[in-house]
Amino acid sequence: MCGIVGYTGTRAAMPIILEGLKRLEYRGYDSAGITTISNGKVNSLKAAGKLRELERQLASQHLPGSCGIGHTRWATHGKPTTENAHPHCSGTISLVHNGIIENYLLLKKDLQTKGYIFQSQTDTEVIAHLIHSLYDGNILSAVQKAIPKLHGAYSLLITDSNQPGTLICVKHQSPLILGFGDGENFIASDIPAILNQTRQFIFLEDSDLAVVTAQDCQIYVNGIPVERPVKTVSWSPAAAEKDGHKHFMLKEIHEQPRALRDTLRGKYVDGKLVLDDLQLSHQEITDIKRITLVACGTSWHAAMVGKYYLEKYTSIPTEVDIASEYRYRRKIIDSSTLVIPVSQSGETADTLAALKEAKSMGAKILCICNVMDSSIARESHGVLYTSAGPEIGVASTKAFTTQLAALYLMTLYLAQQRQQLNSTQIAVKVSELQAIPDAMEQVLRDSERYARFAERYHNYPDFLFLGRSYNFPIALEGALKLKEISYIHAEGYAAGEMKHGPIALIDENMPVVVIATPSEVQDKVFANMEEVMARKGKVVAIATNSTAPEAVSDTFIVPEVSDELSPLINVIPTQFIAYHIADFKGCDVDQPRNLAKSVTVE
Ligand code: F6R
Repeated sequence: MCGIVGYTGTRAAMPIILEGLKRLEYRGYDSAGITTISNGKVNSLKAAGKLRELERQLASQHLPGSCGIGHTRWATHGKPTTENAHPHCSGTISLVHNGIIENYLLLKKDLQTKGYIFQSQTDTEVIAHLIHSLYDGNILSAVQKAIPKLHGAYSLLITDSNQPGTLICVKHQSPLILGFGDGENFIASDIPAILNQTRQFIFLEDSDLAVVTAQDCQIYVNGIPVERPVKTVSWSPAAAEKDGHKHFMLKEIHEQPRALRDTLRGKYVDGKLVLDDLQLSHQEITDIKRITLVACGTSWHAAMVGKYYLEKYTSIPTEVDIASEYRYRRKIIDSSTLVIPVSQSGETADTLAALKEAKSMGAKILCICNVMDSSIARESHGVLYTSAGPEIGVASTKAFTTQLAALYLMTLYLAQQRQQLNSTQIAVKVSELQAIPDAMEQVLRDSERYARFAERYHNYPDFLFLGRSYNFPIALEGALKLKEISYIHAEGYAAGEMKHGPIALIDENMPVVVIATPSEVQDKVFANMEEVMARKGKVVAIATNSTAPEAVSDTFIVPEVSDELSPLINVIPTQFIAYHIADFKGCDVDQPRNLAKSVTVE
């Protein structure tokens, strides 16, 4: 997500912090800022855009001092503007923040009544004023009093110009590390930021609060001092950027539970789904007569799953279209049509063009997007942001699963507003969705099994992927992932379509990955598997303990979840199959040939 860097010591803080932020820049941030303290004075500079803009301004505006904090932002609350960039300040207190404060609106209202004036739209500024409101000259005690009032996930790095040389940091469900030097200490959200300065780290744990000076560091939990082990990290800088994983794609596959938790955070409050950014009135929701989802590639596959969700729970006729097709066909649109563009980057040319055309014809536009203030987000009437964080591997993984979660949330929200699901039913569905990250973690533990599978399967020239119902789009997605990064020809089919053509391809040289987790159409999937095996095809099943088939070539067991949420789980084995085969073949996994991360041309 966002990047944090802090320094306290005897050297000039600003260049060290800037260098640390640069080392995180490979993830693509949208604004940045640095604050230093010198002679009890706060020096601060923030800039929207890439880090080089901040660097350009710093060339003519030096920030003196040997203690400071810095931040690169990936916008979540509020647009990527200079005002919204961190650090945020209240009196003598400055801070940077990663994560999301769920109750920031409530806190903001309360602080406003106490006279605090807000300069930004961020949840972070709320924390600065909150700490200030509890401050009586002792920054540590003000932070300790503020923490219980914050709901959500956060890591914080705080300075107080009344206490120069002291940094306070807090970790709660968002990473933060301490790095140790000789007469100087560092704080960062990520190892690569400070790996050129030190190899000695403490990985803070949830609820840790650390007080760090140039010479010392004390960690507390609930006010009680605790010890944490100092670890030596031997990673190369390149490995550190990937959290020790070989590729960004593998890192991003492993980030899916976190990305999902972040996407769900703050959306279900006091027994109700709250999706304020959708900007749809009750009447507008009631009036929707038709929904069209438009997207490209992997996002189109997510949209296909979304159609199942929307039709099941809202009973609104829903179609899904590839954006490049949609824009050139005759469309039936009026003001009762809801168009939902789905895009990770928010910049895909065809999706953007489809959106603009639908909008010009009077449709209401609600997009699902991972990049705040991107073109698609800006053009839409309302947005549901996924919180996957920057996705660097060209092949989309964590963006896809967060899109599925967003589509599910949007569906439940529409059903809630249209009174098609009652609060008890919504509560059950939301808690099933909230349980998915834990189930994902079980699948992620099996990565090595897929590596061994890749050794045996990397030489097959063709693969088929089969699925039905909610998992038909997962068959398409599995095939897309395999072909784009391993260059093996692969096709995805609705399993029932097999006998209408593809069955002719099946022989002992054709691995067929079949998604066979529990569902209403489970028997039919099993019949399709038999048809493959009868023609000597190699069945690779993705199944649960209760559906594990006999006599197939390979079975990957996944945890059992509801059929409708199973795509969020079942896609992970297909990501691993693609990843490990591509890696085994020595392909450039993160930057496959001929592909770009964001397709901004038609
Ligand atoms: C495949 C992949 C692409 C994108 C597609 C749309 O792994 O990443 O198929 O899904 O180019 O991109 P967005 O979602 O940015 O609109």
